[in-house]
Amino acid sequence: MTDSLTVRDNRTGQEYEVPIADGAIKAADLGQIKTGDDAPGLAVYDPGFVNTASCRSSVTYIDGDKGILEYRGYPIEQLAEKSSFLEVAYLLIHGELPTREQYETWVHEITFHTFVHENVKSFMQGFRYDAHPMGMLMASVGALSTFYPDARNISDAQNRHIQIVRMIAKMPTLGAWAFRHAQGKPYVYPDNDLSYTANFLSMLFKMSESKFEADERLVRALDVLFILHADHEQNCSTNAVRSVGSSQVDPYSAVSAGIGALYGPLHGGANEAVLRMLRRVGSKENIPAFIQGVKDGNERLMGFGHRVYKNYDPRATIIKKACDDVFEVTGVNPLLEIAQELEKIALEDEYFVKRKLYPNVDFYSGLIYEAFQFPPEMFTVLFAIGRTPGWLAQWSELVQDKEQKIARPKQIYTGARTLEFVPASERWS
Ligand SMILES: CC(C)(COP(=O)(O)OP(=O)(O)OC[C@H]1O[C@@H](n2cnc3c(N)ncnc32)[C@H](O)[C@@H]1OP(=O)(O)O)[C@@H](O)C(=O)NCCC(=O)NCCS
Repeated sequence: MTDSLTVRDNRTGQEYEVPIADGAIKAADLGQIKTGDDAPGLAVYDPGFVNTASCRSSVTYIDGDKGILEYRGYPIEQLAEKSSFLEVAYLLIHGELPTREQYETWVHEITFHTFVHENVKSFMQGFRYDAHPMGMLMASVGALSTFYPDARNISDAQNRHIQIVRMIAKMPTLGAWAFRHAQGKPYVYPDNDLSYTANFLSMLFKMSESKFEADERLVRALDVLFILHADHEQNCSTNAVRSVGSSQVDPYSAVSAGIGALYGPLHGGANEAVLRMLRRVGSKENIPAFIQGVKDGNERLMGFGHRVYKNYDPRATIIKKACDDVFEVTGVNPLLEIAQELEKIALEDEYFVKRKLYPNVDFYSGLIYEAFQFPPEMFTVLFAIGRTPGWLAQWSELVQDKEQKIARPKQIYTGARTLEFVPASERWS
């Protein structure tokens, strides 16, 4: 067996041999395939990068057919059950689990960078009263680059480390303040006695009490949700972080671009759509008619199906369990019953079985967020906080990868050529 691909160009009759490595060919190798010396080389047309690997990465492994998700080789199920978000963040960024000493230093560093410059607070207060919290988060993370101009020194490992710590630490502060802003409530400063996730809940919900202490079961459930969202290899927002980061800009600007990508309804917004759908279905009796509508192509079963997973999304199984823990504290969301029944019927129905449509991470996450009393606009902010270590691990990998170049795709030009320009004075006379 030879690890190569023989390509015959039927335009010229010429054959080429292209090496295969790691199950891929280099797109640049196809550039040698030409119809003549001056002709352009053969290009690959791939909108949405459905079959293009943009990097080598050792951060996250997904096998969509088998429903496997691993961070740095560790199965998501084990991390969700036995680890914490900050330990997972360390794992993603450093590539291996911390020793006790490394972990304690890491937690200390993150905890003591949760405060932001007072001027950040002032400009956040300048947003309109009804500003979307994702827009506020995107803008304020981008603005951090002006507070830390040293961040542009991306080739220095120690400098990268401090910006990574700052960003993971400050994201909950900015997210919580965006939430308080919409409610007209005073922003709450971080409480460094609390854990990462408990402090986030304090900044969100504290009022006049001297200390906000969230129920431990809620803290743990939110921590697990952050773990589940921490990375997902080359998704749209990670690709945005890498693409912008490839210009060698500072990491705040690159992550801000990632937040922009996540803001879009096709990426971060599906759990909100699930809630709207469940409300519309309204009761169990309406499920058969709703399912029929989906099968007739009139609507989609939101929270089902995935570009990569053609099996049960492993994160959905874990979230389903977290639902029970959260509802034990908050009382059951009546929409849960509808969701469970919809899942049961869909998993037995030939339409969904044949197309390999299973619940994805968003099917149950909206129900949990609603139980915390988050408005739907906040759902994506929670996703962004969880995804930050993943974005930064991928960014860090990118800037150290010698094979990476500035992202600059080709195009297939379809417009006009060599037109004669007539000045406006002549065209309009
Ligand atoms: C996630 C999603 C965009 C993946 O899309 P994709 O990989 O491009 O898959 P396709 O849209 O080509 O779907 C393949 C088939 O399944 C059907 N299908 C996919 N998701 C479906 C859904 N949620 N409900 C009903 N039918 C669905 C499509 O109609 C198509 O059927 P066809 O072969 O008869 O035309 C899609 O499954 C979806 O829209 N799901 C609902 C939204 C959602 O939950 N998004 C969050 C993802 S984490």
